[in-house]
Amino acid sequence: MRFDPWNPEFVAHPYDVYDELRRQRPVSFFEPTGQWLVARHADVNALLRDRRLGRSYLHVATHAEFGRPDDPEFQDPFWRVVRAGMLDVEPPVHTRLRRLVSKAFTPRMVEALRPKVAEIAGGLVDRFVERGGGDLISEVAEPLPVTVIAEMLGVPEADRHLLRPWSADICGMYELNPSVEAQHTAVRAAEEFSAYLVELARARRANPGDDLISALALVAEEGDKLTEEELVGTCVLLLNAGHEATVNVTGNGWWSLFRNPGELERLRADHGLLPTAIEEMMRWDTPLQMFERWVLEDITVGGVDIPRGTEVALLFGSANRDPEVFADPDRFDVGRVDNPHISFGAGIHFCLGAPLARIELIESFGALLRRAPKLELATEPGWGPGYVIRGLTALDVRV
Ligand code: HEM
Repeated sequence: MRFDPWNPEFVAHPYDVYDELRRQRPVSFFEPTGQWLVARHADVNALLRDRRLGRSYLHVATHAEFGRPDDPEFQDPFWRVVRAGMLDVEPPVHTRLRRLVSKAFTPRMVEALRPKVAEIAGGLVDRFVERGGGDLISEVAEPLPVTVIAEMLGVPEADRHLLRPWSADICGMYELNPSVEAQHTAVRAAEEFSAYLVELARARRANPGDDLISALALVAEEGDKLTEEELVGTCVLLLNAGHEATVNVTGNGWWSLFRNPGELERLRADHGLLPTAIEEMMRWDTPLQMFERWVLEDITVGGVDIPRGTEVALLFGSANRDPEVFADPDRFDVGRVDNPHISFGAGIHFCLGAPLARIELIESFGALLRRAPKLELATEPGWGPGYVIRGLTALDVRV
């Protein structure tokens, strides 16, 4: 098999292909997307921190100067939202936007949320156990991070069911060569989501609460630190990034445990292993298999010259299995201590929500281990179609 992100067999098991890439072609050109695939941990890690690359090039060049076509006009509403969030901008705009919200996500601030997260996780798991099980993804993995981030931002409970579909539709644009239909779906979701947030921010400005949207709406009112477009872009990013990957770490993580019953037993016998087990789940089957960067100045990676104006595809899933960094990398080891996985990224865009994600995962896995000590798989799960964002469609279990 070759690197083929549109092939379900590859998506289900990309690791042999990664192994071959790391050994034989650690930096290789991938014709169908015109990107350079980067497979080794050292290179992925270095490029994420290298300021000669960027999530965007629009701060230093136009589309034409980079030899790229303009975005099709129908995509305008999508890019307006996405390019107004910190993830798709570079300094100095990135620095300003990240600083505005980073105070809410420091380890100390999110540690204060732990009791609340534990309470939400406990409630979801109790109901799940009472029903005897079901789809772990839709009933526990999704509602936990959606509820937590929606509460932090102040999205009313009655509207929260909208977040997951909007996020999933927006994420469709991040897959490689998305279909025209997926592009239209993403644009529509971005339009609806931003219209919703504009209204909500206005309501909060008039009547502020103790939540992040109110805080940001008040900053935006002062005028010079945050535009209304950036306010919306920031909230969309936080609400989406704040749950999308956590859902898939939960699903992929339980599936990893079921596929490695010895390690599941080890964890059941010693819940103290949870922190290392969660990191291992994130390493062994990361939900974010690939992130891209634009090359802003000519670079050389592993002896290969990569010119300005091209794009590199950093293979996180491969970096996380690199034997140069991880002992016995294909082994799933819930007690692994030396585990510098790359699943939260690195450099200036390093995941802002990492401390929160870790708390959510520890609390949800902990609650399930305690209250469903015999949790078992009911039916074999299947992978969704996504490669960049890779997760199971459902995970049916019995308690
Ligand atoms: C286990 C779950 C999560 C994983 C695996 C994850 C992964 C990542 C990765 C890899 C990046 C960097 C992307 C890049 O460099 O191109 C990132 C950025 C980001 N993540 Fe997470 N994330 C998770 C949970 C969260 C949560 C709970 C939040 C809550 C707010 C969050 C908010 C963000 C934000 C705002 C950024 C952009 C940071 C910036 O551009 O400076 N993430 N995440």
